[in-house]
Amino acid sequence: MLQVGIVGLGFMGMIHYLTYKRLPGVRVAAICEVNERRLAGDWTDIKGNFGPPGEQMDLSDVATFTSLEEMLASTELDFVDVTLPPAMHADATIKALAAGRHVFCEKPMALTLAECERMSAAAAAADRRLYIGHVLPYFPEYAWALEAARSGRYGKLLGGAFRRVISDPAWLTNYWQADNVGGPLFDLHIHDAHFIRLLFGMPRAVVSRGRVKNGLPEFWHSLMAYDGGELLVEATSGTIAQQGRSFNHGFEIHFEQATLLFEFAVIGDEGRYLCPPTVLAADGTATVVDTGDGDPLNAFAAELASVVDCISANRASDVLDAALAEDAIRLCQMQHKSVIAALGRT
Ligand SMILES: NC(=O)c1ccc[n+]([C@@H]2O[C@H](COP(=O)([O-])OP(=O)(O)OC[C@H]3O[C@@H](n4cnc5c(N)ncnc54)[C@H](O)[C@@H]3O)[C@@H](O)[C@H]2O)c1
Repeated sequence: MLQVGIVGLGFMGMIHYLTYKRLPGVRVAAICEVNERRLAGDWTDIKGNFGPPGEQMDLSDVATFTSLEEMLASTELDFVDVTLPPAMHADATIKALAAGRHVFCEKPMALTLAECERMSAAAAAADRRLYIGHVLPYFPEYAWALEAARSGRYGKLLGGAFRRVISDPAWLTNYWQADNVGGPLFDLHIHDAHFIRLLFGMPRAVVSRGRVKNGLPEFWHSLMAYDGGELLVEATSGTIAQQGRSFNHGFEIHFEQATLLFEFAVIGDEGRYLCPPTVLAADGTATVVDTGDGDPLNAFAAELASVVDCISANRASDVLDAALAEDAIRLCQMQHKSVIAALGRT
């Protein structure tokens, strides 16, 4: 039975805690959180955009700490799960690795490439595993697309278009701070940046145009060109002020012999497919594919089960790999630079 310690018990810390409770082979042995009410089990003020509301929890079987150093010194954890705000990922991860623990850290890996490099170097120096929590490939529609690409069933990949747009999360006070959350590029589009990197590799050049808020891209379009000139990838992402469609994501992925389509949105209070997962074939047919239950909690369960499997077998993950997550940051930075340069700013 692996013992995990969670650091940062906010929305994502709660989702991870509830998910570990569902999984065999792992136990939450410790939690580190600076908010004493949450540490005492009062999670009633935790809210997110999916999953159950926070409740009063019984944490009597969990060791609780307000300091990560203390948690690392007083427990025999196999791994630490970092669910702190992005600006705190690097320091917490490096401390846990240096203390001999494997680390699973939420996305985005960090807010700068220098921090990403320090995190990977710390993992190598400590000979410990570092996994980054990119959950999107565990969502059924994205898992379907990834499997299709890896199988080669439809021939070579030729490119695609990816969309991820939300209403401005006005209730998140740190959202528009470059040195805290990093805005929609690092919080939201990072999911697609990672998925694009996973499917297509790194582009040679990126052109992005968009609107800026607080010096951060707010809403933008990107075109990514690859060596060889065959692949072409588009991405649209960001926030809009209108609250009537709180969430929208989807893709169109081009293969030599088929095109995969999918789009989902929450409009009003209702989550629904605008286009169900569909294969367009060269013979003119359009086949809707049942990819299964899209409950985000199941995607987190699949992701964390994979982390537990990888740590148990002491092996790398071809999805949660830190080098891929670092490239996703790099791809976000390329888009940031392009948006800002086009506006004549630095
Ligand atoms: N994969 C996804 O879909 C997804 C969704 C939401 C959030 N996230 C990621 O999860 C991470 C956390 O986001 P969140 O929404 O849960 O944030 P949050 O603000 O709700 O939670 C962060 C928690 O960390 C605690 N904290 C702050 N400083 C601390 C310290 N020094 N020691 C211990 N605890 C400390 C805060 O009190 C808070 O409870 C972010 O990286 C975010 O991008 C991922």
